Amino acid sequence: MANKCEFRTLPDLNLARNRTQSFSFDYQGVTYPESLAKYAKGKTYFIHTYGCQANYRDEEVMAGMLEHLGFKRATEIGNADLVILNTCAVRENAEQKVYGMIGELKKYKTADNSRLFCICGCMVQQKHIIEFITKTFKHIDLIFGTHNITKLPQMLDEVIRRRIRLVDVESSPTKIEENLPSSRLSSFKAFINISYGCDKFCTYCIVPYTRGKERSRLMKDILEEAKELKELGYQEVTLLGQNVNAYGKDLKDGSTFAKLLEEVAKIGIPRVRFLTSHPWDFTEEIVDVIAKYKNVMKYIHLPVQSGSSEILRLMGRRYDAEKYLGLVKMIREKVPDCALSTDIIVGFPNETYEQFLETVELCKNVQYDSAFTFIYSPRNGTPAAKIKDNVSSKDKSLRFRELVKVLEEGISKKSAEMVGKTYDVLVEGASEKNPEMLSGYTEKNKLVHFKGDLSLVGKIVPVKILESHTYSMIGELVK
Ligand code: SAH
Ligand code: SF4
Ligand code: F3S
Repeated sequence: MANKCEFRTLPDLNLARNRTQSFSFDYQGVTYPESLAKYAKGKTYFIHTYGCQANYRDEEVMAGMLEHLGFKRATEIGNADLVILNTCAVRENAEQKVYGMIGELKKYKTADNSRLFCICGCMVQQKHIIEFITKTFKHIDLIFGTHNITKLPQMLDEVIRRRIRLVDVESSPTKIEENLPSSRLSSFKAFINISYGCDKFCTYCIVPYTRGKERSRLMKDILEEAKELKELGYQEVTLLGQNVNAYGKDLKDGSTFAKLLEEVAKIGIPRVRFLTSHPWDFTEEIVDVIAKYKNVMKYIHLPVQSGSSEILRLMGRRYDAEKYLGLVKMIREKVPDCALSTDIIVGFPNETYEQFLETVELCKNVQYDSAFTFIYSPRNGTPAAKIKDNVSSKDKSLRFRELVKVLEEGISKKSAEMVGKTYDVLVEGASEKNPEMLSGYTEKNKLVHFKGDLSLVGKIVPVKILESHTYSMIGELVK
């Protein structure tokens, strides 16, 4: 018999839309129930994360709490006492993957009823998803959201002690929490949250609802984290936010992303990156800082979404194709060797073939170094999901393939130009496909495979490029 399900709070998209609530800074850190620490002795956990870097950073905080309690990281999902699925809601296929995994977990529960299964992340910030999961999958013990992950110890403790299933998902954030534990996924590259949430409300996007109001961490707290990482020997940090260039606007203390980036650069970590930049808030000052500091990577992810100004207007992106191209021009003038990557959505409701061709044109014009392309996926509760769409999914797929082909041609050409030259590569580990090779990334985020000793992992080494493929390079270590 499944345990009784208690619904403490359920998310509400209308509440999540609200941007008038105030929030505070909280430096208290996490509290841990003693009974849970006793329970955790000799037990293991496994967190499976889907989606973007914000979710991976949340995984690190959850892992930090669980390890503090005494749980050890399991090697695989199949043998963990506690499993957390950290989910993403950005597109339908992201949610389908999670349902597949929830189904898989059932057999583990049947084999051993004492195992605990939890779901968190963006997907469960939606009420209809929670209703479906709690009704269909009785083997899920705990559902919590993106705004209360630091309550995980209390929630787990309650589920175990009271033998209940529990749903506790808040709609909106009330604070920015500092002094959180963290078990980082890498010992040489790290993500630093600089802001949470998003206020842009692009009409297709669920993120402003699942992640809440845009709120910036204080500059001093971010710099402290960066200094700690530098002392620990980290080679790369990525400043994270849904819109890094809007950083500081809400603080009203004069903080801006340009200032923050400059202060982080001065700390002297060899590689500083940032993700994601919205073209709308991208100021000249930011570009100047990128140009000025050698350790700020000359690589900008600058999602365009569409090359059609009319589609951009319907998407609520607040720039048109001309403005975007102007920004690209300004960046290239100030930072001539800057690599650019992008996100593109194909098949927004009622996109005409001509409008699609404007996207193709823009891509040919910009010459991206890499690109992520997606077929539009209607998201419940967003304005675009209410638009009646007259484009068939077959046409969308055809456009998608046409665009990928154009992008890949351009990217391959750029990659081919790298052959014969030597680049600094931050070594990540053994190559997934061929364990005799190492893999790493250049300053401009090109994946390079080369022969070398595992002792090089976590170091930045010069590699000469011998062969180029669209998405990766083969090189040799320069002695
Ligand atoms: N804040 C970031 C990206 C967040 S989501 C930004 O604005 O760039 C990452 C990407 O997913 C987006 O850039 C967009 O291209 C894509 N995306 C978001 N919602 C989508 C949807 N409903 N359908 C298809 N792709 C979507
Ligand atoms: Fe979504 Fe737009 Fe915010 Fe990016 S800027 S997270 S696409 S609403
Ligand atoms: Fe997905 Fe949430 Fe990130 S919807 S893309 S995990 S902010």
